[in-house]
Amino acid sequence: MKIGIIGFGHLGKALTKGLIFKNIVSKDEIFILAKSERTKDVAEKEFGVQVCNDINDIIEKASILFWVIKGNVFVELSKDIQQDVKHKINVSFMAGMTIKSMQEILGDIFITRAMPSVAIDRADGVIGYTKTNDTFVKKILNELGYAFEIEEKDIEKVTAFSACGLGFAAHILNAFQKAGQAFGFSKEVSEKIVSKTFCNAIDMGDYEETANAVATKGGATEQGILYFEVNNMNRIISEAMNKAYNKMK
Ligand SMILES: NC(=O)c1ccc[n+]([C@@H]2O[C@H](COP(=O)([O-])OP(=O)(O)OC[C@H]3O[C@@H](n4cnc5c(N)ncnc54)[C@H](OP(=O)(O)O)[C@@H]3O)[C@@H](O)[C@H]2O)c1
Repeated sequence: MKIGIIGFGHLGKALTKGLIFKNIVSKDEIFILAKSERTKDVAEKEFGVQVCNDINDIIEKASILFWVIKGNVFVELSKDIQQDVKHKINVSFMAGMTIKSMQEILGDIFITRAMPSVAIDRADGVIGYTKTNDTFVKKILNELGYAFEIEEKDIEKVTAFSACGLGFAAHILNAFQKAGQAFGFSKEVSEKIVSKTFCNAIDMGDYEETANAVATKGGATEQGILYFEVNNMNRIISEAMNKAYNKMK
């Protein structure tokens, strides 16, 4: 099955890596479209995938089209479409671009929206997707991580919670690492301690129960957690997610 990836930035590359990692298709069956010569070079030399000349070339060559460009680029690129996209399987990874607004441009065709995190590059992402009748698309999405069906009205919640969430999680880990460095640990040791500590917390399961078990009454952990609470850490995290969500609404 020939797969076209329109856009070869952070997410386009992550999708390509995931497809190759999981042996879902061979490199010969992956066609990409990018803008700059530099990115095309990377695709050809580092990834070994097929580079297309323009939007019509990729539509002609691929059976499944993954739209992995920014919304404004989609609007511009689609002005040049002469090939028939109606008989292709269309999957959009674009945040903030509804199926209806894509249909207004491409015509009344069936489109699946999927919202992955970049961790699909190692087939360990989170992917919320709208209805698809195509078993191969379903297989791809399920092979790339934890995939679940969701109504389109809720898809930007997945974007904020999981796609942006990966960035939020990394930001928080970075803050822990910096706190470790402020204690005098080297960057490397601090990074190791942070990753172990977070993995341990995840492995232990129920997060609330673990926090309560560690924060014994009158102990040191309790002091730290109280400080989080007094400074509304939960509200800050929830509002950061809402900021991301509102940006896409
Ligand atoms: N990054 C994420 O974690 C994430 C998660 C969920 C959804 N998304 C969605 O995925 C989409 C892409 O995000 P991204 O982070 O991968 O963006 P990005 O890193 O900026 O990549 C955009 C890609 O689009 C290509 N492009 C721009 N103009 C083009 C044109 N005229 N013709 C062909 N290709 C063109 C760029 O080519 P060059 O490299 O040659 O400039 C680049 O490869 C967005 O709609 C975003 O909302 C991203």
